[in-house]
Amino acid sequence: MTTPKVTKSARLTYRRATLADLPLLVDHRHRMWSDIATRSEREITEHDPRYRRWARTLLNSGELIGWLAESPEGSVVGSGCVWCHSDQPRPGIPSLVSPYILSMYTEPAWRGKGVATRIVRELVRECREAGYPNVELHGSRFGRRVYARLGFERTWEMRYWIDRSIPRRQALALAKVRRKGKKRLDRGR
Ligand SMILES: CC(C)(COP(=O)(O)OP(=O)(O)OC[C@H]1O[C@@H](n2cnc3c(N)ncnc32)[C@H](O)[C@@H]1OP(=O)(O)O)[C@@H](O)C(=O)NCCC(=O)NCCS
Repeated sequence: MTTPKVTKSARLTYRRATLADLPLLVDHRHRMWSDIATRSEREITEHDPRYRRWARTLLNSGELIGWLAESPEGSVVGSGCVWCHSDQPRPGIPSLVSPYILSMYTEPAWRGKGVATRIVRELVRECREAGYPNVELHGSRFGRRVYARLGFERTWEMRYWIDRSIPRRQALALAKVRRKGKKRLDRGR
């Protein structure tokens, strides 16, 4: 099957996601992990219902906010979310909410046209309007340049694996994809 060609002039509509968009958000989340290629298909499929339950609860409570890009034909070609979760108190930062952008995905045929850039801008706008002073994310290899261009800085977060089998499995998943010849890989969370 050939990928449909999309012209830059195609007009997209951007809107906030509703609970009715949950299946689409779960599907995009699945495809995001598949593209990042640090998880096996089995792990990603097992994660789908857990993410669905988690996202449903938080979309309902307003802790999770999603934005979508829709093509003129009404199909969703890109999406992303921000999770406004509670955080520790820090000196000089009165907010106890730390927004975290996640589940960014653009359909391959629509990449490189500013879809993710616009969605991140909308998510950041939501956070600014809510009065939060900063927004965090973990950038995949695909997304890093997009976020950097928007002004996101690298930070000094660190991680210690208590369960060493997790990074081992991720390395195996990466190696498998490498063997299959996929070039764009990432070490995700
Ligand atoms: C990462 C991802 C979401 C980016 O989506 P996208 O819609 O292609 O992103 P954008 O189009 O906004 O930006 C991509 C490039 O298009 C360029 N671009 C082209 N036209 C543009 C326009 N009109 N406005 C803004 N940027 C434009 C940007 O400069 C950017 O180039 P750069 O990466 O070389 O700096 C997408 O590649 C994806 O889904 N990857 C797989 C899953 C993944 O890794 N998700 C991110 C998890 S953190």
